[in-house]
Amino acid sequence: MEKTKYSKIYRIIHWAIAISFLLLLFTIFLRLTWMNKNNVAAIIQDYLSGTDQVLSQEQLISLAKKIRQPMWNWHIYIGYILTGLFSLRFILPIFGPMKFQNPFGKNLSIKEKFQKWTYIIFYLGVVISLFTGLIIEFGPKELKSSMEEIHILGIYYLIGFIVLHLAGVFIAEFTDQKGIISRIVSGSKKDY
Ligand code: HEM
Repeated sequence: MEKTKYSKIYRIIHWAIAISFLLLLFTIFLRLTWMNKNNVAAIIQDYLSGTDQVLSQEQLISLAKKIRQPMWNWHIYIGYILTGLFSLRFILPIFGPMKFQNPFGKNLSIKEKFQKWTYIIFYLGVVISLFTGLIIEFGPKELKSSMEEIHILGIYYLIGFIVLHLAGVFIAEFTDQKGIISRIVSGSKKDY
């Protein structure tokens, strides 16, 4: 099988997107675990039970959200970074580099078609996530809760894609695309 060469621009955009998504996942992980509002509220409640102060459940949750906010702001900053990176990723093919992979190309095996469709579905999911995220931040209040419902679903395609992608890359590395991982890290002499 022909070995793909990855240009400098392809590699820079790839790793900027990959690292941003992993950091974004980390903020989601923190929100669901250590910094979960109910957990934090329970810690405050536990602390207050040893004092003569009392807070209502509503006050506890509101305090917990305030504690979580500086961490969650990073989710939003990374969202802006990803909006910039994806805008670049979509603009670049107009000027030549980083053309989109075409799943309708001739002579593609089922495996290659599957791989190319996976990227297209992933990009579609990312566009929906970034769009709903921006509406939550800047759009009208009436749309906020419906946008949040869609935005939250993003975790499923993101984790699904990362698992499929890493499995695909490692299988390629150990079968017919030996060296693919070092080529996406340090490229090779002949760029495409
Ligand atoms: C150890 C981690 C990773 C490795 C070794 C890796 C490796 C690769 C390689 C070799 C390709 C090119 C595949 C091809 O020729 O079709 C690729 C493409 C891609 N990777 Fe990764 N990747 C990693 C992590 C990630 C992560 C975390 C994301 C995002 C969540 C990501 C998103 C993408 C996307 C969207 C493409 C397609 C780019 C395009 O052609 O439009 N990768 N990756």
